[in-house]
Formats: sequence, structure tokens, C-alpha cells
Amino acid sequence: MSMITVPLGERSYPIHIGSGLLDCLGAHTLEALGEISVAVVTDDNVAPLYLQRAVASLESAGLHVCTLTLPHGEQTKCLDQLAKLYSFLCESRITRRDAVVALGGGVIGDLTGLAAATFLRGVHFIQVPTTLLAQVDSSVGGKVAVDLPQGKNLVGAFYQPDFVLVDPNTLTTLTDEYWRDGLGEVVKYGCIGDSSLFALLEECAPGGRAALMARIDEILQHCIQAKADVVAQDERDTGLRMTLNFGHTIAHAVETCQHYSGIRHGEAVALGMHLMTRLTEQKGLTAPGTADRLDALLRQLDMPMELPDFDEETLISAMFMDKKFSGKVLRVIVLNKIGQCFIHPTDATFFHGMTNI
Ligand code: NAD
Ligand code: GLY
Repeated sequence: MSMITVPLGERSYPIHIGSGLLDCLGAHTLEALGEISVAVVTDDNVAPLYLQRAVASLESAGLHVCTLTLPHGEQTKCLDQLAKLYSFLCESRITRRDAVVALGGGVIGDLTGLAAATFLRGVHFIQVPTTLLAQVDSSVGGKVAVDLPQGKNLVGAFYQPDFVLVDPNTLTTLTDEYWRDGLGEVVKYGCIGDSSLFALLEECAPGGRAALMARIDEILQHCIQAKADVVAQDERDTGLRMTLNFGHTIAHAVETCQHYSGIRHGEAVALGMHLMTRLTEQKGLTAPGTADRLDALLRQLDMPMELPDFDEETLISAMFMDKKFSGKVLRVIVLNKIGQCFIHPTDATFFHGMTNI
């Protein structure tokens, strides 16, 4: 078992990491928040796997528990399901001293977090992430949101949880596609700030998922510590937190051009990191050999390396339509070398030739 703190003054919170910790959810909740009622929100894939254990743990700590199971998938991160969640919290008589638990991946975490931030102007919030992506990224840092028909994450808040409970055992039931989704983000942390994580991934990658799972506690600790460090310095995403977007500018453009129905997010991030690093190495911004090293790891992790057949101008336009972008200058994340990055202001000409890499 280990614990990482996200240091945010009065709103600091712990992230507990350890195999089997799901069975300690009740004890941790009681210790952090006392004898309260707890509303557990999950999806219909996660419920049959882990809901009963979560409820049993909470009840054995003497806490009153109610549960809501929503459909799985990104479509659930919407205003209709948020309204359904508010009704459930009203019917369950959740008060400001009570807590909402998100048991699931990033979809459940983001939706439930937004409900927790806004219901009664804020109730307690506990994250129990069960996907690799949610464990290393979305459950830490307080970004909560739902999508609108006009785009992803357009209604949201910054709302930090009371604590996060990460049980790596839950990853054993993930499909390979969602495992790979999370791995894209794991590689990203190694690239932007943690060369020892990158080396650890290089060591394990030839052994596939089993070898990575054998070292998963260590891998999670590296990633979560990296995220906690960034969030502590830039909670509101005005500077440093942007470095977490390495590979994401190209990834979002690819996802937009495919209308979110082709390549998966983690794979798009891997492709974005690959293309970006080739491009910046050619421009002399990145140390020679970096792109080869990154590509070798991505290949071993079965990440796609070929850009789908897009027109370059369409792809570049999609990058410049990103919601975080205003004006003509786009700030992208560039590696100096593996384990070190910087923010680089660019314009559209920077990406010319990227489809020929
Ligand atoms: P997800 O929540 O849809 O989970 C992926 C799939 O895995 C779902 O079908 C789910 O039912 C299933 N699942 C979850 N845990 C499982 C388990 N242990 N075993 C078997 N199946 C399991 O997707 P995700 O990839 O976890 O998260 C994606 C979402 O996260 C997106 O909406 C994205 O915008 C958001 N996100 C948020 C942040 C943030 O900082 N808040 C960061 C990155 C991504
Ligand atoms: N996933 C990016 C962030 O939390 O800022």
C-alpha cells in the first residue's frame, strides 16, 4: 500500500494505492468523513464486477449506502444522465455532509464529480477509478464535466475529491482496448517528466500486459505522483498543466476528423506523441534519437503508428478549432528529450509536412 498527497492547502487530499483496497473503501470513508450516507454511482459493466464489494465494505463500516447504475459509455456523460443523477441524490436524501462515490472509469468519474460539485452547492466526493486511464489521469486533479452535443467536456468544474482509492486489481478485468487507452497516457508521463518511468516501461513492454501488470503498483505511483505534482502547481490549468496535453493536439484533431468513431483516444494520443516528436526532431527542437526511442516503445505496446488517410489541411484546421485555442498561436508540448518537455507557441505552418512523416 502507498499514499500520495495532492498538496492543495486546505483542499489537499490523499490517493491510496494498493491491491485489494476496494475492500477498505468503508474504512477509509469512515475515517475521512465519519458516519455519513454514501451514494455509489457506477456503470453497468462495472456494477456486476465490483459494486457488491464496494457496498459490502461501506456497510460493514456502518455507513448507509444507496446505489445508482448507469449505462456504460461516453454517451452517459451528458446533461440527461446528470439530471437523472440529481433526482437519485434527492430521492436518496443525500445532504451536504454525505458523499458521492464514483466507482468506474473516467466517464463515471467526470459525471459523478460534476454532480458532487453542484448538488446542494457541493457534497463530499470520493473517486474509486477502475480503468487505467482513470487511475493515472482522470480521477486526480479535480476536472469534472459532461459533454454537450457541441463538444466534449463543455460543462464542467474544478472540484477536488476528498480522497481517491486506487485498486490495481480492478485492471485485470479491463478489455485490451481500454488497457491500451490508459497506456497511451502512461507513456505520456514518462515522456514529459519521468525518464525512469519511461525506462521501466521499456523494460516491461516486451513481456506485454502481464509484465506491465507485474510492476503495476510502481507504474501507477510514478504516474499519479507526476499528475499530483502538476496539479499542485497549476490546479486551474493556466500553464504547467498544459504539459499533460503532450500528443493531445494531434490526437484531438484525429479524433475529430474521425467523428470519434475510428481510432481510440489512447491510440490517438500515442500517434500524436509519435508524429509530434518526429516533427520536432526534424526541426531541431528535440534531441536526436528521441523519436526512435519513443517509436520503439509505442510499437512494443502495439500502438498504431500510421496516420489515417487525412488531407493535411483538414487535420490542421481541426487542431486550430480546439476549444482551448483562441487566436492564431497554438501552444504545443514538445520534448527536449525523453523525460523533459517545454511549451512551444506555434502557428499552422509548424505542422506542414506532418502527413508525410
Ligand atoms: P470509461 O469510463 O468509458 O470506461 C471504459 C470502459 O471500461 C467502459 O465500458 C466501462 O464500463 C469499462 N470498465 C471500467 N472499469 C472496468 C473494469 N475494471 N473492468 C472492466 N471494464 C471496466 O472510459 P475511460 O477511458 O475510463 O475514461 C474516458 C473519459 O475520461 C472520457 O470521457 C474523458 O473525457 C475523461 N477524461 C477525464 C479527465 C479528467 O481529468 N477529468 C482526463 C482524461 C480523460
Ligand atoms: N487530463 C488533463 C488534465 O487533467 O489536465
